[in-house]
Amino acid sequence: MTTKKQFFTTPIYYVNAKPHLGHAYTSIATDVATRFKQMDAYETFFLTGTDEHGDKIVQAAHAQETTPKAYADKISKLFQDLLPVLNVKNNFFIRTTDSYHIKIVQSILSKIYDSGDIYFSSYEGLYCFGCERFYQERELVDGKCPDHGVAPEIIKESNYFFKMSKYQEWLINHIKANPDFIRPEQYKTEILSFLKEPLEDLCISRPKSRLTWGINLPFDEDYVTYVWFDALVNYISALGYPDGELFKKFWTGARHFVAKDIIKPHGIYWPIMLKAAGIPIYNGLNVHGFWNVKGSKMSKSIGNVTDPIQVTDAYGVDPFRYFLMREMVFGLDANFTEETIIYRINADLANDLGNLFSRILSMNLRYFKGEVKGKDNKIEKEKNLSLSSDANRAIEEYKQAMEFCEFHKGLGAIWQFISTMNKYIDTHKPWDLAKDEVNIPILETILYNLIEGLRVVSCLIYPIMPQTSLKMQKTLCMEKENMGFYTLKETSVWEQVKKGTIMEKPDSLFPRIDMDKIKPKETAAQTKPFKPALKEQITIDDFAKIDLRTGTVISAEKIEKSNKLLKLKIDLGAETRQIIAGIAKDYTPEQIIGKQVIVVANLKEATLMGETSQGMILAANHKKNLVLSGFDKEILPGNQVK
Ligand code: MSP
Repeated sequence: MTTKKQFFTTPIYYVNAKPHLGHAYTSIATDVATRFKQMDAYETFFLTGTDEHGDKIVQAAHAQETTPKAYADKISKLFQDLLPVLNVKNNFFIRTTDSYHIKIVQSILSKIYDSGDIYFSSYEGLYCFGCERFYQERELVDGKCPDHGVAPEIIKESNYFFKMSKYQEWLINHIKANPDFIRPEQYKTEILSFLKEPLEDLCISRPKSRLTWGINLPFDEDYVTYVWFDALVNYISALGYPDGELFKKFWTGARHFVAKDIIKPHGIYWPIMLKAAGIPIYNGLNVHGFWNVKGSKMSKSIGNVTDPIQVTDAYGVDPFRYFLMREMVFGLDANFTEETIIYRINADLANDLGNLFSRILSMNLRYFKGEVKGKDNKIEKEKNLSLSSDANRAIEEYKQAMEFCEFHKGLGAIWQFISTMNKYIDTHKPWDLAKDEVNIPILETILYNLIEGLRVVSCLIYPIMPQTSLKMQKTLCMEKENMGFYTLKETSVWEQVKKGTIMEKPDSLFPRIDMDKIKPKETAAQTKPFKPALKEQITIDDFAKIDLRTGTVISAEKIEKSNKLLKLKIDLGAETRQIIAGIAKDYTPEQIIGKQVIVVANLKEATLMGETSQGMILAANHKKNLVLSGFDKEILPGNQVK
């Protein structure tokens, strides 16, 4: 018998910053989909990794005064180490600096070049030196680069281009002929509407005079390949393309998970690259939305970049996985706040599932000393006590939803069944039945069905909460040897808990979380308004003498022999300033790099601990600490602050 096969991938993450909540979500969603497919008897392969070439990495390495490779090693390790913390079980981790990957990228470039789909051409365009990229007119804001606020320069450069336009019609037809190729529907529509306009050919190289941190073009040693031609190929190089067993076994069953930010490279460039190289097209793309934090896009300047390790430490890995899968509708954006995760833990996990579990097992302990008594089919029928059809409905709905990555709906189906079981208890009132000996066979049947219901729940939550699934099954004496999970087929067979089994008193599955714990109570002294004596009044003209500017911290380091001072390099748009700031006790260099600050830009130069300081940054005193001033939106450096 041949088993069904599916290959799951996450994007390979850039190593220009450490992993955050968004990266954790994609990895967990892919892990959930993989585990679900295993329950559906598929053989799976799960790939993730890091994308390590390109300008962004060089810039990040420079900011930390290290080499791109040393920097990539450090950040890639953070991504690798995060996986076990999140209980994500990947089969392989690829790094684009691995030598086998480099060889495959070069072989594919050669193949496409030889077939005539890559050509050399000179290109004149608007180039921003800050971003190290060309811009289209329509991407500029008031004629300026949206990131650096400076007008790009017209430069002429020769580069290699990939003839994407040649494959436009083919791609449109392929997407239309394969309804599952891009999911959910709205992203398919987005790609098809983009494809209504003529596709521009893709510039795939950078001259080495501008970028050396990349893979050499095999047909021109003066150039490296630029970003996507390197990154996308990871999905096949990791499988040992062209001859590897894994490639032969898994490639045509490939489903890529990405967020909406990178649908164009995945939905357009990648299928066309595969087509041009004569490689079968991947099976499909699952596109999800973005996580915002407290209503805003995650950004260093707002200070809301959420560390998944901290959340896992605070709430546990299964509650975190549950929250992410329950709260986001796959395809749409979602919002993360501590209040919502606590609410979900208390309401859905501690209250609904946790209480049901302990309620049923405590009753079984109280009435039958923990022994599973079995059920009487005649009584079940007469008294209408069956739960199996509710369980099967839940399994069916769950299966449909999970198949389409509608994880929130899959969980919704399980929780509907949990609610049915709670109502079943309230309707049949086991505590009343226990009062009379004659009712004992009815009580036995009810408790047997409820325990069976718990078994089904424990099996279905496995992809989302593997640890809780196992914990429940251990208590139910239903631990699955070897595999660690039950297939959907096994799950749907009713009456699996063995009569005569003795079940112990269960540990609590999910402790309730006290909402007040996250809000430190202010002491009376702290809440008392602090009114420093105000300085002498000034006129608006006096104030206008101070030139306040927005700046972005691009590097930071401690000053030897000083425990107060940090040496900062600040991007002021038109120039970079060195500022010595007395904030080392409140901010580490890592915490401050990337922050947007307010700079007093026309302050006379001063020397502090032998270092020149060209300005000052603004901060406020808060409970004996210093807190930097900033903005609630990302803003270009060099703008005036009024
Ligand atoms: N290196 C490229 C991908 C190459 S794949 C061949 C890249 N890397 S990235 O580090 O920027 O990662 C982008 C991906 O991280 C998104 O597509 C998504 O999977 C995840 N997310 C990053 N921020 C996110 C949110 N705020 N919310 C949800 N997912 C997010 O692009």
